[in-house]
Amino acid sequence: APNIALANVKAHLSQFQSIATANGGNRAHGRPGYLASVNYVKAQLDAVGYTTTVQSFTYNGATGYNLIADWPGGDPNAVVMTGAHLDGVTAGPGINDNGSGSAAILEVALAVARTGFTPDRHLRFGWWGAEELGLRGSQYYVNNLPAAERSRIKQYLNFDMVGSPNAGYFVYDGDNSDGVGAGPGPAGSAQIEQTIQAYFTSIGVPTRGTDFDGRSDYGPFINVGIPAGGTFTGAEGVKSSAQATLWGGTAGQAFDPCYHRSCDTTSNINDTALDRNADAIAYTVWTLAQVATPPPA
Ligand code: PHE
Ligand code: ZN
Ligand code: ZN
Ligand code: ZN
Repeated sequence: APNIALANVKAHLSQFQSIATANGGNRAHGRPGYLASVNYVKAQLDAVGYTTTVQSFTYNGATGYNLIADWPGGDPNAVVMTGAHLDGVTAGPGINDNGSGSAAILEVALAVARTGFTPDRHLRFGWWGAEELGLRGSQYYVNNLPAAERSRIKQYLNFDMVGSPNAGYFVYDGDNSDGVGAGPGPAGSAQIEQTIQAYFTSIGVPTRGTDFDGRSDYGPFINVGIPAGGTFTGAEGVKSSAQATLWGGTAGQAFDPCYHRSCDTTSNINDTALDRNADAIAYTVWTLAQVATPPPA
């Protein structure tokens, strides 16, 4: 898998920041900054050969949009889908939540094109609308998948908040190996978790599980039995002293002190965390897209 250039990911974040600044300070559902964000991502993908679709839905009296991008080729009956929510709250520009996941998966998608990757499995990317209002866009997408199309999606990878300033390195606990909280997810979720863990092990960064409780857009996928996984660097939760010993950063402070606030700007990003997560996404997409990687049971 290619190394993803942090500078490229950050350039997308600067664009999201500019879009918010030019549109009343946010990129929220039903606001002009959201559609401008969709158009920015779509233009990048169209320029390199993706087949893109904008799916509209209505929520709360406003039109929402999901952006779906298919990379031509690969087994149409074995789709590996990667997604991130592109909307933010109204309070601020939403750069860590979730410009970070949106920009990281965009740069991975562009790397697929740049390297001329010819995966064995079909690659699809999704940017979801109205996550902040209750996973509305991803739920709409899953609800409207014909049964045959739904069964073609073998794996769903989700990235929501991957550059938190006081970062933790969390992987969705698909097998509920810690026995705490929600889970396990559909069979095959454990394989995704292990693939992501293998990347972090290779760079010497310890990870911990995070509850597979449906608090992001993988929820609608696991509810219909699609194996899922992903990473997360923390939101309003407070870093413990054990976690600060493990990862550095500040004990007693939130992973993201600007969570859902106006200060979630381009200053609210931990470059190291964002860089490691972008590389982990590329590794996971490349690994799962090849037939040498066993499909989920
Ligand atoms: N989905 C939450 C939000 O966008 C953040 C979150 C992601 C929380 C993953 C827990 C796990 O605000
Ligand atoms: Zn949020
Ligand atoms: Zn989020
Ligand atoms: Zn686990």
